[in-house]
Amino acid sequence: MAKTASLKIDDKEYPLPVMEGTEGEKAIDTRTLRASSGYIAYDQGYGNTGSCESKITYLDGDNGVLCHRGYPIDQLAQQSDFVETAYLVIYGELPNATQRKEFGLLLRKNAAVETQMQKILEGFPTSASPMAMLSALVSALPAYHAELATNNFEKDLQSFDLAAAIAMSKIRTFVAMIYRYQKGLPFMFPKQELPFCDNFLHMMFSEPYKDYLAMPEVAKALNLVLLLHADHEQNCSTSTVRMVGSSAANLFTSISAGICALSGPLHGGANVAVMQMLQSIHDEGDDGSRFIAAAKSGSKSNRLMGFGHAVYRNFDPRARIIGDACDSVLNKLGVDDPLLAIAKHLEQAALKDDYFVSRKLYPNVDFYSGIIMRAIGIPMNMFTTMFAIGRAPGYIANWREVAMNPKGRIYRPRQIYVGPTKRDYIPMGKRG
Ligand code: SDX
Repeated sequence: MAKTASLKIDDKEYPLPVMEGTEGEKAIDTRTLRASSGYIAYDQGYGNTGSCESKITYLDGDNGVLCHRGYPIDQLAQQSDFVETAYLVIYGELPNATQRKEFGLLLRKNAAVETQMQKILEGFPTSASPMAMLSALVSALPAYHAELATNNFEKDLQSFDLAAAIAMSKIRTFVAMIYRYQKGLPFMFPKQELPFCDNFLHMMFSEPYKDYLAMPEVAKALNLVLLLHADHEQNCSTSTVRMVGSSAANLFTSISAGICALSGPLHGGANVAVMQMLQSIHDEGDDGSRFIAAAKSGSKSNRLMGFGHAVYRNFDPRARIIGDACDSVLNKLGVDDPLLAIAKHLEQAALKDDYFVSRKLYPNVDFYSGIIMRAIGIPMNMFTTMFAIGRAPGYIANWREVAMNPKGRIYRPRQIYVGPTKRDYIPMGKRG
């Protein structure tokens, strides 16, 4: 027997169905609320509102649990790699050997970018935001793959596998192109024989006269960073992909919008802000206490970057994994980064400070990710584009859920209007 909740307004009761997810999450289904009571629910920032039912990722913010299609993130981090986890996130099951081979081949075959797309980059100053350039390149994909981006769900789903591979593979190539463009270096074409991460590192760091061959430790570290970013439930940018996709916009256009949302410093831009914070502490010879004091002021512009989370009220499991990996990766690479020691000191100091403890503010995935990316040789201004490469599978999987939902509706939240009430037009001559 389905449970119901009852909302009492004045002396009238409104029954509302209760929903329960496979992990026991409960929700009150308010879809009939406005029609039955004339009231809407109000939840600024949607922190208490479910926008969809999804089978992709489960998050338990109170207990620091993260699972993709039921598989815990620590098991995937230890036993899987980015491409396999991407397949899992997108298609719902771990691939068998044939599926894994075919998926990898599709990614390799679609790694190259039309030469004409380079002109899009040339329209930007080299100082432009890498995320702005990435979003522009992705939003141009429908022009080059019109047959995959018809803005008709039924047609676009028929060619989904190819569109998904193009999105995931070319976002990776675009990031390397942006890096080379900013450096004034020639673009390096992908090599079909290289695995996903090795190919990215080749396109980033090879020279026409000398190939960059990634050390296994470097490719492994990059795999881990990307895998840990693969998907994260209804975060700001993924919800943006769903919002735009709900209008029947194609996969590429929807992802481009998600990349714009990801660029914000409170979201994907935090990994850059963390490194800037750590570098400032290092340059000032501070022990971090100045930053902690400023962060406790409560102003959004002084927040301890890489700390806190909209959902986690416990450790972000990804932060633990990437924090533990930092030591081993830097040791293997022979990198001694003073920022790692500062990050650890800052974490310990914050975790003992009641301001953070009382607000359940713990390190999130961005707190350590920049240290590994810097050790690999990726410049700080490219960190958020790396987040976009990692999150591409999540964007793709969520767009597919929207497109495949037979009962799907365009996302159109309501509001509470608090502006001026009705008033008559005032001719210019009578205005103050
Ligand atoms: C990502 O949603 C996702 O899943 C995102 C992500 C993903 O994988 O997609 O996990 C990736 O975006 C991680 C978060 C990266 N951002 C940062 O590290 C920026 C710093 N953190 C924050 O600004 C903040 O914690 C947010 C934006 C992440 C969450 O903001 P909320 O949910 O609006 O937090 P809140 O305002 O409810 O915080 C509650 C209290 C407030 O203080 P009081 O009003 O109670 O006095 O905690 C304070 C906040 O001022 N607070 C912080 C803080 N984060 C929250 N104070 C100091 N430093 C911080 N970092």
